[in-house]
Amino acid sequence: MDIKEFCKRYAVPDRHNTNSFKWDLLKEKFGDEDLIPMWVADMDFKAPECVVDAIVKRAEHGVFGYAFTPDSYYKAVADWEERHFGYRPDTKKIRVTHGVVSALFWSVDMYTEPGDAVIILTPVYNQFANAVRTTGRRLISCDLDCDKGIFTFDADKFEKSIVDNDVKLYIMCSPHNPAGRVWKQDELTDMLEICRKHGVLVVSDEIHHDLVFDGHKHIPTASLCGGKYKDMVITLSASSKTFNLATCLTSNVIIDNERLLKIWDDFTARYFHVEDNVFGLAAVEAALKGGEDWYDGMKKTIWHNYEIFKDALGKWPDIYVSPLEGTYLMFVDFRKVIPADECRAFIQDKCRIAANYGENYGENFKGFVRFNLAAPPETIKKAIDNIVRELKKL
Ligand SMILES: Cc1ncc(COP(=O)(O)O)c(C=O)c1O
Repeated sequence: MDIKEFCKRYAVPDRHNTNSFKWDLLKEKFGDEDLIPMWVADMDFKAPECVVDAIVKRAEHGVFGYAFTPDSYYKAVADWEERHFGYRPDTKKIRVTHGVVSALFWSVDMYTEPGDAVIILTPVYNQFANAVRTTGRRLISCDLDCDKGIFTFDADKFEKSIVDNDVKLYIMCSPHNPAGRVWKQDELTDMLEICRKHGVLVVSDEIHHDLVFDGHKHIPTASLCGGKYKDMVITLSASSKTFNLATCLTSNVIIDNERLLKIWDDFTARYFHVEDNVFGLAAVEAALKGGEDWYDGMKKTIWHNYEIFKDALGKWPDIYVSPLEGTYLMFVDFRKVIPADECRAFIQDKCRIAANYGENYGENFKGFVRFNLAAPPETIKKAIDNIVRELKKL
């Protein structure tokens, strides 16, 4: 589907009064409701019709008693993975959860002990650090290298951090939010080889797996090198970023290793007694089966938005836009043109944008800003016009 068609059918330029975090919490979180919302990672796009139809059809049945996850759901997940990544998970090893973040916190809790060291590659999604701190584990942050906006993984530094701190678990972000990286085979292999050598378990958060742009390929960690590492990987995944279904609260955990799967099942048997949500299951299954055309149009729109933004900022040689290999979250390093302490005031008060700031993702990234590109192109143009206008005044 082309961008014009996609925007005509699905772009929602105003989501006020829908209890939207991104739109209706501006005043509460930023103290100002008149900002262009480019923060929370959801999309200002309607879901595909097949999703809406599936939810309406289920609602029209009118009976919402206890229900289980049907085989057709697991099959749809496995079919999608196979079609897009050439990897078919064993459907018996998929567990449905109500969001990736919950699954992440549980994983840290069940696979490590209080006081154990858990490593993350910063800058990274802030809930990774929260999961480690909240569960009373020791947070080991290892910064990615960054040169003019390009983030790379330093294997020696990673291994040294693991050895020096006796790390037990690595929470991986693949693709990586907010660095925009889609890890290459050799980078993934280095990460996994190091973890294997030192007995480190890997929780691989692949929620952004479908948001990968031309020239890049997402490799599910469990499928790396023909599945060589799958026994030491817990994969967290979902279609919620892909199809904008965050509040459908339906995501997947895939665990190949029988021992680790048993730990998962024992843990959830103790603490998790909630049935799956019939609307979420219907929505995800419908999206996976009928959402390909929408998915294509959505990716083209995001890429178009990225190009507008990057081209405009490209006129300032000292502003570095991280190449968007994956995710719809663009990370920009303003440190050479705006003092890091003034970055927030510049973006919010002058440019009138609600964004996320680098320090949320790692303490050394103050002066970076993360912008959510999943919005109609007019919104993105407004934001970039404001930024360009204010940069010219500096
Ligand atoms: C890497 C990553 N994991 C998880 C989430 C959220 O997952 P969920 O909404 O399923 O809890 C996000 C949202 O931005 C994310 O970027």
